[in-house]
Amino acid sequence: MRRKLVVGNWKLNGSLSENKVLIASLLKNLNTIQTTDFAICVPYTYLFQAQALLTGTNIFWGAQNVSQFRDGAHTSSISAHMIADFDCSFAIIGHSERRALSNESNQKAAKRFARVVNAGITPIYCVGETAEERAEGLAENVVKNQILAITYGLDESTFEYAKQVDMVIAYEPVWAIGNGRTASPQQAQDMHAFIRDLIAKIDADFSKRVRIIYGGSVTPDNALALLSMPDIDGGLIGRCSLIAEEFSQICHLAS
Ligand code: 13P
Repeated sequence: MRRKLVVGNWKLNGSLSENKVLIASLLKNLNTIQTTDFAICVPYTYLFQAQALLTGTNIFWGAQNVSQFRDGAHTSSISAHMIADFDCSFAIIGHSERRALSNESNQKAAKRFARVVNAGITPIYCVGETAEERAEGLAENVVKNQILAITYGLDESTFEYAKQVDMVIAYEPVWAIGNGRTASPQQAQDMHAFIRDLIAKIDADFSKRVRIIYGGSVTPDNALALLSMPDIDGGLIGRCSLIAEEFSQICHLAS
């Protein structure tokens, strides 16, 4: 049985004082739950604060991206080894906002993915189609190519590392992000099952334990229906992760 995982993606939000209040509420609301994994992925500048406030608790923390490079002349970039210094458990890779805003291709996302697993951190690798791609019947093909980039696109030892750190896949249909228009539980389930089948072609055992979480307008109102589907192993939560009560409710529903 796969443990559910609920991750908050704070995106470009927060301040030292707001984070302190939000994290204190989460700790209070979630400290009794032992059956589910929780994490928050914060802006880089707040990793130190997350580490200070969350070490020794049942909430993990992580970053929202890493550089595709290990080091060197790449002004403003942050490497996987740098975030490892802050004991990050997770890093989001290939989020559609990165893919769209920074022209992040599947190949670049795969390089970042490899950096993360080589640093011993669990990648949360985001896949998902746009509204136009779905309308044209291309959704599965788009997601397949995104998955192939981190499976057949990487060398065997990197995929082995990815298994060792229990890589997570997040299906986030782009048309459902940040607009209240969530995928129906069946739409999400169908894509999660498709992704699990793709992984099974490479490693049948791993496909049974890999966690595939759903993101895109998850709220306390729709979380239970989504999280009850057999192949939905948790959620990647944007807007509601900034509101302690709403994120906590989703976490309680997941558990
Ligand atoms: P929303 O929950 O705000 O739709 O964001 C989803 C998301 O992009 C999480 O990574």
